Amino acid sequence: MQDTSWVPLFPEGASSFAWEVDALYFYLIAVSAFFAIIVVAAVFYFFIKYREREKFATPPEIHGSIPLELFWSFVPFVISMTIFLGGAIVYYNQYKIPEDTMEIFVVGKQWMWKVQHGTGQREINELHVPVGRKVKLTMTTEDVLHDFYIPAFRTKADVVPGRYTSLWFEATKPGKYRLFCAEYCGLNHSGMGGWVYVMEQRDFDNWLAGNLSNQTPVQQGQDLFTNKLGCASCHAGGQNQRGAILEGIFGKEVKLVGGQTVIADEEYIRNSILNPAGQVVEGYQPIMPTFKGQVTEEQLVALVAYIKSLSGQSGTTAAPMTPATDGTTAAPANTAGAGK
Ligand code: CUA
Repeated sequence: MQDTSWVPLFPEGASSFAWEVDALYFYLIAVSAFFAIIVVAAVFYFFIKYREREKFATPPEIHGSIPLELFWSFVPFVISMTIFLGGAIVYYNQYKIPEDTMEIFVVGKQWMWKVQHGTGQREINELHVPVGRKVKLTMTTEDVLHDFYIPAFRTKADVVPGRYTSLWFEATKPGKYRLFCAEYCGLNHSGMGGWVYVMEQRDFDNWLAGNLSNQTPVQQGQDLFTNKLGCASCHAGGQNQRGAILEGIFGKEVKLVGGQTVIADEEYIRNSILNPAGQVVEGYQPIMPTFKGQVTEEQLVALVAYIKSLSGQSGTTAAPMTPATDGTTAAPANTAGAGK
């Protein structure tokens, strides 16, 4: 893995794909510099070689040259294809979320980042993650567009009102890295940032243990589902089952009234809570009331986490727990798991 931290003005590279982004970037610079130098040198060379020695002298005209045409078609083709393929590979690696990620929720808000871990810990303008672990951020915003940007990881993604976006990374060295909002979002946009702390697994476990959580997102979602919002009155099963069965639904294709099918992902669940009449599951009546305006983005995130957990999708697991050797208690057991 190349280290580009020696380049002045270049942020440290601290994620598994940082070097790929840098390599592509340096390739683009190298190609541009190479042709810029050739063109400028040629300008000066011909400038002098063909300076006017004799009044009205004109060189012979050239009428086409097949080898030359082939040459200047083939070379740009190869260059543009390498740029395209390089860009596509880097893009694919960055935006294809891998399996077995540790999942963290992020909610942007003028002008702060609110973070919640699968084990319930919350932080503001800080993000603690273990080194060498794939981390997926599921992000949305309470108000306007923001953009979650960690230069050292060479990754960023817009955070969009009304939908979920996600990004992933695997931090490769422990340290403290800057976190920015990279989308102008109002008066204090420039202050909307913080730090990412990449820690060794053991330190991260200790951090989790020292930051005793209140409810995990799954527990919070269950509480909303059964008590505060009363979703359970229609969705809990039994004779009162009037709403779609939610157990096992996550990640599956569901058939809608009208014959379409959709994948029941985070986005679908969120939409179903806010706009239930939009995509009704086949076999059910569109009787569910909307919860738009009644739930915050943070509560939606918790509901989504809970509904995921009904399908045995943990995703939100914390680190694999290592028993603490110094006699203190280990990190709280993960309750975000499956099999409710
Ligand atoms: Cu949030 Cu700029």
